[in-house]
Amino acid sequence: MILSLGFATLLSLMRVATAQSSTATSSAPTATSTVSLNMAAKAAGKLYFGSATDNPELTDTAYLTILNDTAMFGQLTPANSMKWDAIEPEQNVFNFTGGDQIVALAEQTGKIMRGHNLVWYSQLPDWVAYGNWTPETLTSVIQTHVTTEVSHYKGKIYAWDVINEPFNDNGTFRTDVFYNTLNSSYISIALNAAHAADPDAMLYINEYNLEYSGPKIDAMVQLVTDLKAAGTPIDGIGIESHFILGEVSASELQANMEALTALGVDVAITELDDRIELPATDADLEQQKADYETIVGVCMAVSGCVGVTVWDYTDKYSWIPSSFPGYGEACPWDENLVRKPAYDGIAMAFTSY
Ligand code: G3I
Repeated sequence: MILSLGFATLLSLMRVATAQSSTATSSAPTATSTVSLNMAAKAAGKLYFGSATDNPELTDTAYLTILNDTAMFGQLTPANSMKWDAIEPEQNVFNFTGGDQIVALAEQTGKIMRGHNLVWYSQLPDWVAYGNWTPETLTSVIQTHVTTEVSHYKGKIYAWDVINEPFNDNGTFRTDVFYNTLNSSYISIALNAAHAADPDAMLYINEYNLEYSGPKIDAMVQLVTDLKAAGTPIDGIGIESHFILGEVSASELQANMEALTALGVDVAITELDDRIELPATDADLEQQKADYETIVGVCMAVSGCVGVTVWDYTDKYSWIPSSFPGYGEACPWDENLVRKPAYDGIAMAFTSY
């Protein structure tokens, strides 16, 4: 009977069996550290250890109980509810409901907020993305959006991701409606508007694939250099840090952080996760612990790295499985809200300095 099965079918049956046995035994290793991560981050001189969260998750009381523990998380980032499509779905029609809910939660539990994000090519409503703009009209649209959103949250946001993901991986500017209409001037237009609306907020540009050497980090260093030379307000660079298991380069990550902080800006790890090709083995979870320790350890080694945010703390609400089919288990808590070895890696990095 087995001989009559095709090789591909056999392989997929084996995969199912492996996946089922790893679920059925549920003997995956768990964390042993008793350290609370935000407390450890602050004791180590960082501003926060934080997490992304999203409004639909806030009805999950077990999830919320962990999130609300300020010894564990000192900072929140809304994963979706402060983005352009949520905040200004139609021109001059603003909806702050979702963002307000997360700001209120942060205030109730004594956490600081990272605002995410003001100008991004994605989750951009059609009226912006496909509008028939001139440089003048799009400048006004950006200024209205940024000014209205930053003013609404004035005094409540520690740092804004004013610009999100402006570069292609080859270091050229991403050709979206903003760049196509305004060239790179849209970046200073947004930064200046944000600074005018809340002069005390830290203003960031946030980007992925800055974790390795290559043209993208070089382009970001050049952009910060140019913005500083022009006197444009820029306070920090967000290094998203969506890693693949075993692909962390401590030396490249540290060199890149130092290249940026040498220009007089802060850096932060803004969206940390470390995805595993499924099914994850115990050895994978050990490697993930090592990866998390390495990454957070680099932030520890760079004084201008202000804090670390995980892109949600639990596999239950991770964006990875839907965006990278076949990958998952990227977060420090598993889908049952149990701490994984990765948790110990983070704790080790914050406590062994
Ligand atoms: O709001 C709709 C809802 O009406 C609809 O019923 C549902 C059905 O799929 O989709 C909902 O939209 C989803 C949205 O999240 C809100 O839940 C989108 O499909 C989904 O694509 C979107 O994913 C978000 C993603 O950004 C979009 O690019 C993730 O939650 C969010 O974690 C992720 O975050 C980004 C950062 O902003 C920037 N860096 C990368 C990071 C990961 O992609």
